[in-house]
Amino acid sequence: MESIPARSAELESKSAQELLAWALTEFRSRVALAASFGAEDVVLIDMLMKLSPTARVFTLDTGRLSPETYTLMEAIRERYGLAIEVYFPQAEAVEAMVREHGVNLFYKSIEHRKRCCGIRKIEPLGRALQGLEAWLTGLRREQAVTRTGVQKVEVDVEHGGIIKLNPLADWTGDQVWAYIRAQDVPYNGLHDRGYPSIGCAPCTRAVGRGEDPRAGRWWWESPDTKECGLHVRSGR
Ligand code: ADX
Ligand code: SF4
Repeated sequence: MESIPARSAELESKSAQELLAWALTEFRSRVALAASFGAEDVVLIDMLMKLSPTARVFTLDTGRLSPETYTLMEAIRERYGLAIEVYFPQAEAVEAMVREHGVNLFYKSIEHRKRCCGIRKIEPLGRALQGLEAWLTGLRREQAVTRTGVQKVEVDVEHGGIIKLNPLADWTGDQVWAYIRAQDVPYNGLHDRGYPSIGCAPCTRAVGRGEDPRAGRWWWESPDTKECGLHVRSGR
C-alpha cells in the first residue's frame, strides 16, 4: 500500500469530513483530536461525533484556562456524551517554576513564556500523543504568518514521525462560523466578546474590529514568535 506521505496530494483534495472519515477508518482508536475548544475545534468535534460516537478528543488543561472554556467543555460533554481526555501538567514542575519565577512569569520575557508553555502544554502534549499514530488539529493557514504552509496531512517529525492531520487547513474563518451556526454547535462565549482566538486566560485578550485575529494572543510579543511550541514546524 502507498505510504501516507505519498498519498498527500490525494488526501489534500478531501473535504474536512472526508478526511476525518478516512482517518477514523485508517487509525481507529489510534487517532485523536487535540482540542482547546476554539471555534475550529468545536467544528471538528461536531463532525467527528457525527461520524463516530467513540472518536477520541483530548485537551491540555494548562491550569490557566478561562472559566468560559470550562463551561464550554461541560456543554460539549453533555451535548455529545463525550468523555474528553484531559491532560494536566506535572504538578512538581509547575510548583518549581512558579516558586522560582512567579505565577505570571510569561510577561517577563519570551524565554519565560516558552518555559511556561513548555511545562503546561508541551510536556503534557507528549504524553497525550503517546500510542497514537495520528493526531488531528484545528490549524488553518489563514490564522497566522507562521501557519501559511500548513498542509492537511503532515508527518510530525517533532513527535516521532506520527501523522498530523489539519482537516480545516484551507477553511476561512467565515466558513468556520457558518458551520457553527448551521449545525448549532456549542461555542466559547468569549468569541462573542471580541476573542477570535482563545488560549490561556492571562495570555489572551480581546481584539479590536479589523485587528489580526491572533493579535490578542501573547499580545506583548511580535507575530513571528507567537507559537507556543505545540505546532513547531521544522524547516519551514
Ligand atoms: S496555539 O498553539 O496558538 O495555542 P491555537 O490556539 O491557535 O494554538 O490552536 C490551534 C490548534 O492547536 C487547536 O485547533 C487545537 O487542535 C490545538 N490546541 C491548542 N491548544 C490546545 C490545548 N490546550 N489542548 C489541546 N489542543 C490544543
Ligand atoms: Fe503559560 Fe501563557 Fe503558555 Fe498558558 S499560554 S502555558 S499561561 S505562557
